[in-house]
Amino acid sequence: MPDTALITGASSGIGRELARIHAEKGGDLVITARRAEALDALKADLEAAHEVTVHTIPLDLGTEGGPQKLFQAVEALGVEIGVLMNNAGFGGQGEFLERDLNRDLAMIDLNVKAPVTLSHLFGARMKARGKGRMLQVSSTAAMVPGPFQAVYYATKAFVTSFSMAIDEEMRPYGVTSTALAPGPVATEFFDAADLTGTSLGNNAAPPRKVALVGYNAMRAGQLHAIDNPMLSVMLNWVTPLMPRRMVLKMIRGMQVKAE
Ligand SMILES: NC(=O)c1ccc[n+]([C@@H]2O[C@H](COP(=O)([O-])OP(=O)(O)OC[C@H]3O[C@@H](n4cnc5c(N)ncnc54)[C@H](OP(=O)(O)O)[C@@H]3O)[C@@H](O)[C@H]2O)c1
Repeated sequence: MPDTALITGASSGIGRELARIHAEKGGDLVITARRAEALDALKADLEAAHEVTVHTIPLDLGTEGGPQKLFQAVEALGVEIGVLMNNAGFGGQGEFLERDLNRDLAMIDLNVKAPVTLSHLFGARMKARGKGRMLQVSSTAAMVPGPFQAVYYATKAFVTSFSMAIDEEMRPYGVTSTALAPGPVATEFFDAADLTGTSLGNNAAPPRKVALVGYNAMRAGQLHAIDNPMLSVMLNWVTPLMPRRMVLKMIRGMQVKAE
């Protein structure tokens, strides 16, 4: 039976699918997000379908002290977390100078500060136990700069860099960190990021498929995983050889709304 997993952003999209996959394998769960009803519904589903225990902790991870509160709530449950999946995150379309600065700072709190804090707190526990797995849900956005989503792309560049660096540090202690870099995925992300009307969501993958790629990579202790083979070739082998200005124009074109 797999160790108990903590999944952030489990109320929808990729996080909900990660929770389903872990439960199918017989693993207990602690699931968190802001929407308590969605967490309760998922708990009911998973406990009815599988012999697992699911704890819900509804909480805003983007607030000051939010990630620490989550850690304390897990401690209070008396549950040992063997698998940490930092998945909660959001994006935001628009010209940087025209966007609400507070929204972008909140994005940094959720996409960057929360996974750093949780990896630190739960990572120390995993190191003490001599084993643990982390999945950091990043994005293919990490691999190029993103005009018209400048802050989001930069947060994901941070996540991938951070994940790979701590993997190298923690591996000798039996703890690994896998960065998952999805291409576009059909979730609530596009509405939340105000990306409808852009070409970015064309051919978006189903969240189950993406979650499975990430889950299996994490279990195998892989450093980095991309669900979309075409994007993998493009971003690993083609864009690094293209002039930077050309890459910027190409990404910009995907993120401006059709007139
Ligand atoms: N969809 C894509 O195309 C795509 C591509 C690459 C990477 N990703 C990444 O994949 C991850 C999951 O996104 P998704 O596509 O599954 O989108 P989603 O369906 O919008 O899910 C986002 C999750 O994050 C939670 N969340 C948002 N704000 C939160 C907050 N302040 N505190 C706690 N939880 C919060 C949401 O739950 P509540 O609203 O209930 O709080 C939800 O469960 C994100 O990190 C995203 O950047 C997505």
